[in-house]
Amino acid sequence: MCGIFAYAGPGNCAEVIINGLKSLEYRGYDSWGIALKTKNNIELKKSVGKVSEATELEAVKAYAGIGHTRWATHGNVSIENSHPHTDSEKRIYVVHNGIIENVAELRKFVSGDRFYSKTDTEIIPKLIARLLNRYSFPAAVKEVVGKLRGNFAFVAIDRDSNYLVAARNGSPIVAALNRNKFYISSDLQSLVPYTDKAFLMNDGEMAIYNLDDSSVEFYNFLDRKEIIKVQENYSVQFGDCRRGDFKHFMLKEIFEQPVRLRQTFEVNVTDFDIRFAQPLGAGIFKDINRIVIIACGTSWHAGLVAEYWLESLVRMPVEVEYASEFRYRSPVLSADTLIIAISQSGETADTIAGIKEAKELGARVLSVCNVPGSTIARISDATVFTQAGPEIGVASTKAFTTQLEMLFLLTLYLAQYRQKISPKDVINYLKNLAEIPEKMERVLGKTEQIIKIMEAHYTVSNALFLGRGVNYPIALEGALKLKEISYIHAEGYPAAEMKHGPIALIDRHMPTVFICIRDQSYEKVLSNIQEVKARNGIVIAVANDNDKRITELADHVIFIPETIVELSPFLTVVPLQMLAYYIADKRGCDIDKPRNLAKSVTVE
Ligand code: AGP
Repeated sequence: MCGIFAYAGPGNCAEVIINGLKSLEYRGYDSWGIALKTKNNIELKKSVGKVSEATELEAVKAYAGIGHTRWATHGNVSIENSHPHTDSEKRIYVVHNGIIENVAELRKFVSGDRFYSKTDTEIIPKLIARLLNRYSFPAAVKEVVGKLRGNFAFVAIDRDSNYLVAARNGSPIVAALNRNKFYISSDLQSLVPYTDKAFLMNDGEMAIYNLDDSSVEFYNFLDRKEIIKVQENYSVQFGDCRRGDFKHFMLKEIFEQPVRLRQTFEVNVTDFDIRFAQPLGAGIFKDINRIVIIACGTSWHAGLVAEYWLESLVRMPVEVEYASEFRYRSPVLSADTLIIAISQSGETADTIAGIKEAKELGARVLSVCNVPGSTIARISDATVFTQAGPEIGVASTKAFTTQLEMLFLLTLYLAQYRQKISPKDVINYLKNLAEIPEKMERVLGKTEQIIKIMEAHYTVSNALFLGRGVNYPIALEGALKLKEISYIHAEGYPAAEMKHGPIALIDRHMPTVFICIRDQSYEKVLSNIQEVKARNGIVIAVANDNDKRITELADHVIFIPETIVELSPFLTVVPLQMLAYYIADKRGCDIDKPRNLAKSVTVE
């Protein structure tokens, strides 16, 4: 998952491209590169590290350029492997996101060329250059793109002709024309400062921009036809993308959750009646007898929580699958299966592939997504949008809790549709849901206490997170948060599972975080806590206010307000997000851009 940003037009090209790349660094940030088209040449600058150091390029008088911020897939992190890549004559420059799967086969078309990098990308400019003696630059790109296999998006620029060409096949890319200014980017959000309309490109499409007359043409390289596209107003709700007074975006987004939950509720519920902002279409739930949820990472954890809700309230069989496994598993689906795909970015390659597989097998797809105009939003049969606003921190927080909210609303809606619960019950659940933001604000007020726990344990190397029932997925989520931003190894388990192995890990160096609220398994979890204490383990508990018994057992207790058990995940996850954040901050980690990670995993 890399970031692509290209610009052609008046003004300071380098500055526009650098700003574009900065807003795309959530997609990858181990190295960057920019190629600027000047009157007679192309100026190239590449570097390892973050694009903020690129300002020296702003002195270059250029009228077009392409830029890239990289998350390494093929080839290690180095200047040679960073983009743009070029041909032997240094005429064609290309930036690319995705993977070219048939590089080995394509190399025979450029025999004799010396490759300077270990990337798959380098084959693209070399293939284009080989055709320039017979084709124009745009025509050469059309020939080459038809030979490429795999998920990719790339932009190419030519030293000797005035075109900018982009192609999309499986990785996201959008184009926008605002009078004589042309933009290409990996996402819509980075275009917000420049335009509110864009060409939403689909797989198999190419954009060919003519710098001389500021015109753009589109071409479908799969059926080799010119196509007509119009720019669409993208109503992407971009709240304030600045960090404000917060030290990190992640901290801002943790504290933003109550507001975002209120917005998500207000947009989809009127007078305690569920009316989704996006009409689902009458047929989406018709004759459904089974639900399969597909997602990755934190979104997969949201799916696990929804499984408890759907099975208990809708009384329908539900399976939750990693999208990456689902798509290769030859799943058995049919017309009565509803796929619920969950994705914050709407660009996760494995989830996109899972959706495509499910649709080929005849299933309907309903997505829960945070980015209107994203690929998943466009290929699903219906989509409901969270109102989380842009989530910049790589570690997902507000997107997760707003996903939970949308999934709970879908559960209530489906349960009522199938007459499994009464309208009175729905109103009661909605009233409890409406109280969550205020209760969450009370949990967010526990900063000092959580910092004390951090001070005691930020040097640990391992941690266990345990929960039961609807809070077992929250144990998984707490473990993921800690490991992805503090690099501490952490595992989540169902609390009852501890005695089937993980208890062997317990000693006085191992903190175990328990979610121990007053639900049907409260007594059982208390026993699990005693089992850990009997082995000198450290116990950090998330428990309900005024729970006296837990204070006698646990080393640390973070109290949270009571709510109905179904909704407890909204409150139990917040202390775990905060604990992970403060530990990672104390350990000096790059919290918003953790090593090796990216916000949107657009490669398989
Ligand atoms: C969560 O903190 C991670 N950033 C990651 O697991 C993420 O949830 C996963 O990559 C799925 O992303 P998506 O929701 O955009 O599809």
